[in-house]
Amino acid sequence: TPITAPDNISDCIAANAGISDKKDAARTLACCPPVLSEGAPKRFVLPKGPVTRVRPAAQRVTDEYLAKYKEALRKMRDLPDDDPRSFKQQAMIHCAYCNGSYRQKGEDGKPRKEIQIHNSWLFFPFHRWYLYFYERILGKLIDDPSFAIPYWNWDSPTGMTIPAMFEPDPAKENPRRNPIFNAYRDANHLPPVVVDIDYNGTERGAPCIDQIGINLAAMYKQMISNATDPISFFGGMYKAGDDPINMGSPLIGTIESGCHTAVHRWVGNSRMPNNEDMGNFYSAGYDPIFYVHHANVDRMWKIWKGLGIKGHHDPTDEDWLEASYVFYDENKQLVRVYNKDCVDTEPMGYEYEASRIPWSRNRP
Ligand code: C2O
Repeated sequence: TPITAPDNISDCIAANAGISDKKDAARTLACCPPVLSEGAPKRFVLPKGPVTRVRPAAQRVTDEYLAKYKEALRKMRDLPDDDPRSFKQQAMIHCAYCNGSYRQKGEDGKPRKEIQIHNSWLFFPFHRWYLYFYERILGKLIDDPSFAIPYWNWDSPTGMTIPAMFEPDPAKENPRRNPIFNAYRDANHLPPVVVDIDYNGTERGAPCIDQIGINLAAMYKQMISNATDPISFFGGMYKAGDDPINMGSPLIGTIESGCHTAVHRWVGNSRMPNNEDMGNFYSAGYDPIFYVHHANVDRMWKIWKGLGIKGHHDPTDEDWLEASYVFYDENKQLVRVYNKDCVDTEPMGYEYEASRIPWSRNRP
């Protein structure tokens, strides 16, 4: 039986898992979405149409694009907190699905297990849907059906720092009034420091040319040599009735356990009690960088399938295809979405602006 998010979002409870210091938490643990109407979510049907949204690489965007992106984020931040499309509610989605707010559908009498969409084969599809609605909401707020979020191209040497737009010059722009700025980031990792996508919590201190080589080798490993089949790339099976899989499990997919987690930890502030924001599930969504990081993670799914290597295909198990989540769409409609409807980006109306993938020839 597939993992199925509950119909009844009012069953959601406060976050209770994976937060080491609850007393000093910088963000709320009450991360359940508002209940706007009674009744079960509608099954979501992808709108038909051509690809209109092309996600650009964050380090190459035009001034015109940047202005639009900021305007959209500003509007999202200006929505009232109880609007499911507000920035705060969008951030809290991550907390709810990752820190124990939802329970699996119950079988009579048995205690209901928590839903954890990390550390398993749910990782790629859940986050794809999450970004899908986030992007559509932003587009709707600026009335631009072609609006696409940027991706942080950390797999290429030209993208291996926090994109400059996230750390604007304070002499030119008040950070507090910049909608894509976030105060909770590691001050030692701001540009031009080269990202360590193999970061494990200790500073490597490698000269940047070496760090670039380490990063490219890590990409090759996580996309090619260690990701030879759906289980190794997507992560292990996780079905209804299973206990949530914990961090550190050998069954976590190569990208999720590798560069994905490394970048989270590297951006989050290690001096905060829970490594807020990016370094903890419950707070990661509060940093606009989260969505830009995850766009590149999402892009890796597409690239992995397109490498033309035998074994590089989506899981075919019904319990993966039929797993489903509940989101609010850009019209505040509560909808249920399935893994099987998100396996390709084109039917979802978006794609990625092309960038070179230098790691593909970087066999260590
Ligand atoms: Cu849901 Cu990057 O984690």
